[in-house]
This record gives sequence, structure tokens and C-alpha cells, in this order.
Amino acid sequence: MMKAALLGYGTVGGGVDRIIQERDDIRITRILEKYPKPEIADRVARDMDEIVADPEIDIVIELLGGVHPAFEFVKAALEAGKHVVTANKALVSAYCKELTALAEEHGVAFRCTPAVGGGIPWLHNLARCRRVDEIREVRGIMNGTTNFILHTMLSGTAFEDALKTAQELGFAEADPTADIDGWDIRRKLVISAAVAFDLLAKEEEIPMFGIRTITAQDIANFRTLGRTCKLMAYGTKSKNGVSAYVEPTLLLPNEPEASVPANYNTISLDGKLNGIQSFYGQGTGRFPTAANVVSDCLDILAGERDFYAKPVPASVDNSDAKHAYYVRTAHRDAFLTGNCVTEGNGFVITKDISVDEMHRWAKEKAASDPALFFAAIR
Ligand SMILES: NC(=O)c1ccc[n+]([C@@H]2O[C@H](COP(=O)([O-])OP(=O)(O)OC[C@H]3O[C@@H](n4cnc5c(N)ncnc54)[C@H](OP(=O)(O)O)[C@@H]3O)[C@@H](O)[C@H]2O)c1
Repeated sequence: MMKAALLGYGTVGGGVDRIIQERDDIRITRILEKYPKPEIADRVARDMDEIVADPEIDIVIELLGGVHPAFEFVKAALEAGKHVVTANKALVSAYCKELTALAEEHGVAFRCTPAVGGGIPWLHNLARCRRVDEIREVRGIMNGTTNFILHTMLSGTAFEDALKTAQELGFAEADPTADIDGWDIRRKLVISAAVAFDLLAKEEEIPMFGIRTITAQDIANFRTLGRTCKLMAYGTKSKNGVSAYVEPTLLLPNEPEASVPANYNTISLDGKLNGIQSFYGQGTGRFPTAANVVSDCLDILAGERDFYAKPVPASVDNSDAKHAYYVRTAHRDAFLTGNCVTEGNGFVITKDISVDEMHRWAKEKAASDPALFFAAIR
């Protein structure tokens, strides 16, 4: 019987407790929660110190969200020789190196499978594949909120209305910035690239553009181009390292990601031996995510100790990455005119442009045209 402490009794934490209550191999004996509900009163911990000092607790399950104090709590747990499972991508993306080193030093496990893909066992299987295969690319739809919005907009709905529906259905937070501007998917790309390529990139080095400025007219334009827009993350082995970026991408109908509906995710690897393997499922949601958390705990119970990989800090290298773009801006300039191949209803299709150059141009241009939108055509 493994004894666990739960940090956070919200959407996922509450689900984890419900699942574990049905089992006889793990028991949650302590819960840290800001405003605990009466039904958990007998298990509430006073503070993190009480959990750290409890010699009976083998594993700490961190489901608070945010980087602080999650980092300090997880650090204290690892230093006290307790295994840690977390679903917190912001924490892992920012502190992967420190936390994996601490886990190794103290001979305990640090697992985070639900941090990328919610209910999808993506990281676990990516790590399993890479033991024998060389991963050439990881890519996919790794954010359910933006996929829900883009899917809803296919029926002519405006961005603001699709976002409102996502919020009403619990698929988007009151502050949707992390989802619609790409921060969330970029963190998941950082973690996926760390597991696939042993490359620990800094979030801010990865070019990112979200879907905040997409319009119903853009969606209609994509239809005339015979394409569907998805917010995609790409991490690809390149000549000099690994290229990585996040951008809206116009897919052809026969590409598997083009038909991913609602708030679902599809995340794929391309391996030298395996070719393409794709993982499709619910990227969010109480019980899918909680089930993945419990699976990580069971892996630890079965003796799993290693992190998925041994990533080392390295810079992103996008020097090989270039492709065409759809660009809509109210103020065309020499850069766009010089790169224009064809144009349509208020938009330009460019020739191949380096990813770094495109993102740099868009960032500068957005200062004078905040409604600008672009999407990759790969
Ligand atoms: N929801 C999903 O579908 C999903 C999917 C994949 C991964 N995740 C990840 O799972 C983690 C938890 O997500 P969630 O949706 O369960 O969040 P949530 O519903 O907001 O739950 C977090 C809980 O922790 C409490 N809390 C926060 N800081 C605390 C502190 N310092 N001390 C004590 N309690 C504290 C919160 O209380 P207050 O509300 O009072 O602040 C809340 O009850 C996040 O890292 C998220 O990214 C979630």
C-alpha cells in the first residue's frame, strides 16, 4: 500500500481522489488545499511542512497549477525522499532540469505524463518508443481549447462567440491568454522535445503565434484554399540540432490533424523505425487527466524511477525551417510585397520564408496592426 499526499483538490485533484478511493494499492492520507471542502476535513494538512515531515507519505501528487509555490513544494518533497507526480506543464517546462536532477540525487521518481495531453499517455509512450527508435519529429494539436474554438468557427461563428462558448462549457478559462496566445502549447512542446530529443529548450526561444486575431473571414478564405486551420506545435530534428515553433497551420483535408474535432488533441511522433505514430484523445477534463495521474503513480509503485529522458539545455535551431505563409494585414509593406506569390480577399500567400524571419516580422508589424493574422502553409 502506497501512501500519498495530494496538493490541490480542484478539477483534477478531486478526480484523482475519487479514482484512488476505489483502489486498495494507494491511499491519499493528506490533502493540501486553500479552501478545503468539509468532506476532506479529516485529511487536510496544515501546510507543506507537515506533509514533508510525515515519514509515512511515499508520494506527493502536485495538482495546484502555476509555477510558485508548486516548485518550492515539489522541491521540498523530492529533497525529503518522496516520489512526485505532477500534471503541471508550467512547472515542468520551467524547472525540468532542477527537478529531474533532484529526483536523481535523492533516488526517487519524478513523473509528469498528464502535463502533455491530459488523458493521453503521450510522454510515457514517446519515452518507450525512443528507447529503440530515433525520433525525427514530434508535432500536433496539443491544446484542446484552441482546437474547440477553431472547430466551432468552421460553422461561421466569430472568434469571440466561439471563445465564449468554450468558456461556458468549461473548455477555456476566464483568462484564456495561455491557450489562445500559444503559451500552453509551447510549454507542452518544450516537454515533448525534452523527452524526444534530450533537448531542454527555453520557452522564450521558441517562436510562437496564437489564434487571438483569427476572423470568420479568415476561416472562409481557408475554405476557398481547400485547407483547415489548426494551432500546431512542431519539434523537428534538424542539421544542427532541433527546430521548434508554434503557429496556426493550414492543413490539407487528408492530413490526420485536419479532422480533429472539438477539444480533442492529436499528438504524433515520427520515428526512423516506427514512422508516424499518433495519439488521439482528450487533452483536458477531470477524469481523463486524473486517470493519467493515477497511472503515473502505479508506474512508480511498479518500480519506475527514471524520468522519461536526460535532457540537457540547448538552443533551438530554426535555420532549416522555412515554408509559405497566409498573411492578412491592413498595412502591406515592402517585406510582404517582396515575398508575395499570390493574393486573395485581403490576404497574401508568400513564397517560402524562414520561420524565424516570419515571426520576427509579425511581432514588429503587430505594433501598428494588432489585428494581423498569419498561418503556415507547410
Ligand atoms: N483541468 C485539466 O483538464 C487539466 C489537464 C491537464 C493538466 N492540468 C494541470 O493540472 C493542474 C491542476 O489543474 P486543475 O484544473 O485541477 O486546477 P484547479 O481546478 O484550479 O485546482 C487547483 C486547486 O489547488 C488549489 N491551490 C492552488 N494554489 C494553492 C496553494 N498554494 N495552497 C493550497 N491550495 C492551492 C486551488 O485553490 P483555489 O482555486 O482556491 O486557488 C484549487 O482548488 C494544473 O497544473 C493544470 O495545468 C489540468
